[in-house]
Amino acid sequence: MAIFISLEGPDGSGKTTALALLIEKMEAAGLDFIKTREPGGSPISEKVRDIVLGIGNEEMDPRTETLLIAGARRQHVVEKIRPALEAGQHVLCDRFVDSSLAYQGAGRGIGIKEVLDINLFAIEDTFPDKTYYLDVPAEIGLARIAANKGREVNRLDKEDVSFHDKVQQGYEEIIAMFPDRFVRVDGTRSPEEITDTILMDILDTIADTE
Ligand code: ADP
Ligand code: TYD
Repeated sequence: MAIFISLEGPDGSGKTTALALLIEKMEAAGLDFIKTREPGGSPISEKVRDIVLGIGNEEMDPRTETLLIAGARRQHVVEKIRPALEAGQHVLCDRFVDSSLAYQGAGRGIGIKEVLDINLFAIEDTFPDKTYYLDVPAEIGLARIAANKGREVNRLDKEDVSFHDKVQQGYEEIIAMFPDRFVRVDGTRSPEEITDTILMDILDTIADTE
């Protein structure tokens, strides 16, 4: 059976680096999968992404941000994620619902439970089968962001250190809420080791469904 996989982590956790390598390894393993991302992933949802992450929209209210991302997620689930799974393709998603719980729920202070309720309306029962969380100590994540200043900056990247701390603490709460789905991966190891660990777990998870 096709499985739904998401990758999560605070900014600076090495998610972008790991994802690129993981895709190569999944292709080499012969897996039939699509790669997608949030916010975005479908044409309508990508338009919402531009609004949500666009520099210049700083006056956006946190609840507006939450609702827009949840709306984009709904469209992504219906238009892309569910059809792929139904067609037998695995789905690898760069961030999904847990990012809303961590960034809007904890980071913006709306509350994890409140943001989960809104997202249940959007995704219904379409939760990932496995969520890989790249775990790095806060100081390492922040040091990596500081050392990597040349990259594209979005509206959320401009938040301060206390926002990033809240996001990280939020993830800890979310992992405790969904212990069966989350796999904590040590993000201080090399990208090679990180992606080997994730690929092994993906192959085991697929084998378990067969
Ligand atoms: P994210 O997408 O989570 O913000 P990136 O993949 O862009 O993170 O990585 C942020 C910085 O950390 C980059 O400079 C990258 O080269 C470096 N980095 C990524 N993964 C690792 C790793 N496993 N070990 C050490 N440095 C890493
Ligand atoms: P992106 O450039 O994809 O960053 P990253 O490489 O860290 O994934 O930007 C996504 C940003 O959007 C990131 O700062 C997290 C944020 N975000 C939310 O706040 N809520 C969400 O539900 C999602 C999916 C992302």
